[in-house]
Amino acid sequence: MLLFVSVCLVLCWAAAEARPNIIIILADDLGWNDVGFHGMNQIPTPNIDALAYSGIILQNYYVNSMCTPSRAALMTGKYPIHTGMQHSAIRASEPWGLPLSEKLLPQFLKELGYKTHLVGKWHLGHYKKAYLPMNRGFDTHLGTYGPKIDLYDHTNMDLGTWGFDFWRGFEHADDLFGQYATDIYTEEAIKVVKAHNKSEPLFLMVSHSAMHSGNPSEYLRAPDEVIDRFQYINDTQRRKYAGMLAKLDESVGMVVKSLQEYGLLENSIILFSTDNGGAARCDHNVASNHPLKGVKNTLWEGGVRGAALLWSPVIKYPSRVANQTFHLVDWLPTLYSAAGGNISVFENIDGFNSWEALINDLPSQRTKIVHNIDDVYGSAAITVDNWKLLKGTNFQGRRDDWFGPTARDGAYNIDTIYNSSSAEAIGKIAKMPTKDNITRLKEESTIKCNDSIPITPCDLLKAPCLYDIMVDPCEKQNLASGKPEVLQALLLELDKVNKTAVPPLKIKPVPEADPKHWGRLVTTFGEANTSLSIVKLK
Ligand SMILES: *[C@@H]1O[C@H](CO)[C@@H](O)[C@H](O)[C@H]1NC(C)=O
Ligand SMILES: *[C@@H]1O[C@H](CO)[C@@H](O)[C@H](O)[C@H]1NC(C)=O
Ligand SMILES: *[C@@H]1O[C@H](CO)[C@@H](O)[C@H](O)[C@H]1NC(C)=O
Ligand SMILES: *[C@@H]1O[C@H](CO)[C@@H](O)[C@H](O)[C@H]1NC(C)=O
Repeated sequence: MLLFVSVCLVLCWAAAEARPNIIIILADDLGWNDVGFHGMNQIPTPNIDALAYSGIILQNYYVNSMCTPSRAALMTGKYPIHTGMQHSAIRASEPWGLPLSEKLLPQFLKELGYKTHLVGKWHLGHYKKAYLPMNRGFDTHLGTYGPKIDLYDHTNMDLGTWGFDFWRGFEHADDLFGQYATDIYTEEAIKVVKAHNKSEPLFLMVSHSAMHSGNPSEYLRAPDEVIDRFQYINDTQRRKYAGMLAKLDESVGMVVKSLQEYGLLENSIILFSTDNGGAARCDHNVASNHPLKGVKNTLWEGGVRGAALLWSPVIKYPSRVANQTFHLVDWLPTLYSAAGGNISVFENIDGFNSWEALINDLPSQRTKIVHNIDDVYGSAAITVDNWKLLKGTNFQGRRDDWFGPTARDGAYNIDTIYNSSSAEAIGKIAKMPTKDNITRLKEESTIKCNDSIPITPCDLLKAPCLYDIMVDPCEKQNLASGKPEVLQALLLELDKVNKTAVPPLKIKPVPEADPKHWGRLVTTFGEANTSLSIVKLK
């Protein structure tokens, strides 16, 4: 008994001491094909690519199709249909949020001794103080509450309202007015890393405002001198997008570099992920999901298949394309398990612990993904094994097509990857893969549509469509009429899942929230006001 206790004292202490730092870098509305490692050659992303090639590329990786549902899935390990977050995103003037009954990733990590920091965008509710990040598990927050901002003036224009949305904890950070948001986030993340006590584990989430469009005055913004590097891109919007992406990539490199400088990198797990598919066609955005069909806020692969990578020194056989099927809801148990937690603490979650599967390249438990069921829009999609069913659509079908630039022309300069800040930092503790390996990895993770597959019409306004995603990732051939038994089985499965859904919490904007009543701030407008003129959608 004594021996056992003393062994545990040593081992348990060692286990606690070894808890890895967890860094999540979340990009906003970044397209599948907006990273070099998926085949894009137009805009260099050497810092992101260096992590991808020396870690693992998450190839069968799925997200929700919009910001709020995606962030809710990541934080709770539950599908949005199980938290009421399945319909649309929270607008700045809407009095709702991720239910306070939900316990979130940073809260779970805090119980394991983590220090928790959110830098950047929240977007899970702000109308009352209780919904703000520092009341939901984060020790500190610098960034925005709502959906999007102008990257320089930090205001959000929406439905005729206009308000400032940049915060240091509960105080508005107007001292940062005019500074480029990506730079602010980079600086803050480095400050957190520098100040962190190494004998405690760190959870740092850098949740970027880029690549989301800002305000109509100028949707896409980046420093002029950075945009000017991309004169070879003829499309003005795409040139600005390139400037934003270059700043995002630079930020990733600077954060990785600081982790190395302050001795945290060798015990870190870094997840880089988009929150949803690229938003081509939305607010003059020009993201590329090429060659995937659809965009943000559609359930086509372009909306739900996400660009992501995982980097950590504990990954066995790094530098590979990981084909485990993975959904955002899996991160809660996966990261908790990586942190040495016992996942039996989770009740009623939809996520699987895929930690061992990812780091040891074993099959994961996930074979099915409920992409969403939104009875307000009347759209739903589910994937079971290789089969994907889509039923109903959003935007009256206007985005059920292939949009955005291919961005595949041009040369890919591997030297820029080795010369990146990420690669320099990684090189100090691990090996970067060879040029041949980089070329092979890029080739493997570049999706090509199967040219021998014909385009078979699909009109989701009339009937559900069925695709074999393994052979037809571009969703060209609708097999609904050819495979009626598969179609029927998936429709039944969807009905079964829908019975477990809770009603959507989405509420229309209320006039009381207008920032003009609140000193031009996007703020906790519902705090003292119990009589908001709430209009339920359903
Ligand atoms: C760092 O954390 C350890 C463990 O919690 C604590 O004992 C130590 O006092 C901390 N050091 C500083 C400088 O705060
Ligand atoms: C960009 O515009 C220039 C001048 O009109 C043209 O020569 C060039 O081919 C264009 N490049 C692309 C990639 O379209
Ligand atoms: C992943 O690759 C392995 C080996 O190539 C294969 O057996 C398996 O079916 C693949 N799984 C998925 C989900 O693609
Ligand atoms: C996790 O917790 C459960 C329930 O308390 C327990 O039965 C199990 O042994 C624990 N697993 C580990 C690996 O500690």
